[in-house]
Amino acid sequence: MAAKTLTFFLTLLFLLQFHSSAGQNAVRAVYWFAGTGFPVSDIDSTLFTHLFCAFAGLNPQTNRVVISSANQAQFSTFTRTVQQKNPSVKTLLSIGGGDANATAFDGMASQAVSRKSFIDSSIGLARSNNFHGLDLDWEYPSTPTHMTNFGLLLAEWRVAVASESRRTGNTPLLLSAAVFRSSDHYTINYPISSISNSLDWINVMAYDFYGPGWSSVTGPPAALYDPRTTKSGSYGVTTWIQAGVAANKIVLGLPFYGRAWKLANANNNGFFAPTVGAAISKEGDIGYAQINNFIAQNGARALYNSSFVSNFCYSGTTWIGYDDRESISAKVTYAKNRGILGYFAWQVGADDKWALSRQAASAWGA
Ligand SMILES: *[C@@H]1O[C@H](CO)[C@@H](O)[C@H](O)[C@H]1NC(C)=O
Ligand SMILES: *[C@@H]1O[C@H](CO)[C@@H](O)[C@H](O)[C@H]1NC(C)=O
Repeated sequence: MAAKTLTFFLTLLFLLQFHSSAGQNAVRAVYWFAGTGFPVSDIDSTLFTHLFCAFAGLNPQTNRVVISSANQAQFSTFTRTVQQKNPSVKTLLSIGGGDANATAFDGMASQAVSRKSFIDSSIGLARSNNFHGLDLDWEYPSTPTHMTNFGLLLAEWRVAVASESRRTGNTPLLLSAAVFRSSDHYTINYPISSISNSLDWINVMAYDFYGPGWSSVTGPPAALYDPRTTKSGSYGVTTWIQAGVAANKIVLGLPFYGRAWKLANANNNGFFAPTVGAAISKEGDIGYAQINNFIAQNGARALYNSSFVSNFCYSGTTWIGYDDRESISAKVTYAKNRGILGYFAWQVGADDKWALSRQAASAWGA
């Protein structure tokens, strides 16, 4: 009897062990962006399971992934630094980003030899700088050919990562990609089966739905719900699931920043109000901590709209749409109830004394 019970528990332990190494249990992640100057040593890594170090670049001549010399010191010590507060946090080197030259990615992905150069150099950089994984942030593959090539790249990347792991005995590198909010980029479909078979998960960039650069009216920049349009996180997540990506490979993006407009009329200050352009910065982007400063300094009125799941505030003709704690909490609860893998935020330096990071972790039940 005792032996039987022991066997049962050992089997259970083995199965649990196997389960956790076969897939991620949850991803509660955030990007750190070198361009912000936020010190890596200040990251409260206890609030996260995974941290993305952004960004490595792509050399369009050699098709090799490169870390700029300005970033080298911080990137090479990133994992060691963030593991001081949380020894089990995993790190991924993120490649590309919104400001990267998309043409270089189109070119690299178009030929087997340049894909190999990208893949081999990325694996080399991840290992030599002690990252646990790699994240591709190609914004965006925008033709059917780009999408086909993106699929080939992911499939070849997975094969190379598996073979490197067999050869060295190291745990395979994690592979993720940041993708558009929906499973198509303006009707051009993502390569779903390559994504499903090759990536550990996708980071769904469920933000920037409205911004002064592309909308002449105010709007919820990262609504969770909007039954009238496709501009919502829930719509995006649903398209990915319906296209065939398993829910447990989908991670929902949260913005730790808002978008600011200058209102045409200070008295017309709700959603979809006419504007005369950006406020605060060129693209109207403003971090969460700065939004709180703006509210305090101007006595701005701040509201939460639970139908869209979006916060907004205004003072005079300055209007800002953003995610405060209510929005973050509702989105993380949605992610949990939808059975998806977790959430990530862009970006850690914009938070205000860890308010949003903590709210997200507690809504997840972490
Ligand atoms: C982007 O990269 C391509 C080559 O891949 C180059 O021809 C083009 O000039 C680059 N554009 C910018 C804005 O640097
Ligand atoms: C959210 O905003 C929309 C559009 O302005 C409005 O119709 C709706 O009543 C608001 N919902 C809440 C709960 O404030």
